Amino acid sequence: MNIIFLGPPGAGKGTQSKRLEARYGIAQISTGDMLRAEVKAGSDIGREAKTLMDAGKLVPDSMIVSMLESRIQQPDCAKGFILDGFPRTVGQAEALDEVLVRLKSQIDVVLVLQVDEDALADRIAGRFSCAKCGASYNDLSKPTELPGRCDVCGSHDFVRRADDNRETVTSRLASYRKETMPLLPYYEKKVMVAFVDGMAPIEAVSAQIDTIMQEVE
Ligand code: AP5
Ligand code: ZN
Repeated sequence: MNIIFLGPPGAGKGTQSKRLEARYGIAQISTGDMLRAEVKAGSDIGREAKTLMDAGKLVPDSMIVSMLESRIQQPDCAKGFILDGFPRTVGQAEALDEVLVRLKSQIDVVLVLQVDEDALADRIAGRFSCAKCGASYNDLSKPTELPGRCDVCGSHDFVRRADDNRETVTSRLASYRKETMPLLPYYEKKVMVAFVDGMAPIEAVSAQIDTIMQEVE
């Protein structure tokens, strides 16, 4: 089962794709996380990507497509994969199609998280995670149980993403509208596209996705 998650920044792609990974045993692949790992490692790709990511701009298709192509051939993708944040341009979608033809594979469903744009900046500004174990939290919807202490590992050390500020969100949203929204008509011609109300509470969004998954299976 191969799934694409589409939705603007802060829509809940990461939250829901991690839940799907846990429920269905298929690998979650976040190109944003892959790029942040390159930035952290200080690689050439990471250095080039950092400037663009901090400005809320997309990195070049050529950079991301080759990373993605090798990632989906890793052993943990044998049962399928969930693409979170890829493709983001029609060029990336076309490149993915070519890769999938070569691998004799296909996309089974595209899940589109629909959200009220006014809610996104608050969600993104509220997001933080544990520096030690990576558990994710949100000032608004998912605070730590004890103030300043990770529920999972007890660490007191938290981090926020460099691009999680209101100015960058504006340009990330502009990139989404201009570059990524054209993927909707692109996929509607090819595969099942299912719309999900991303404004519902996290559990209710997961329940909607479960219902869709029963139709796909
Ligand atoms: P990326 O890491 O993909 O970020 P994004 O698309 O901006 O998405 P986010 O991670 O901000 O949001 P999300 O939808 O995953 O929401 P989340 O579940 O965390 O990309 C970052 C950058 O990398 C890009 O700007 C670009 O520069 C580069 N990049 C990445 N991929 C690329 C590509 N393919 N091509 C070119 N460049 C690329 O939720 C957000 C918050 O809201 C969380 O705190 C969560 O707890 C909360 N929340 C979630 N759901 C709900 C709910 N239902 N109700 C209340 N709160 C909720
Ligand atoms: Zn932790």
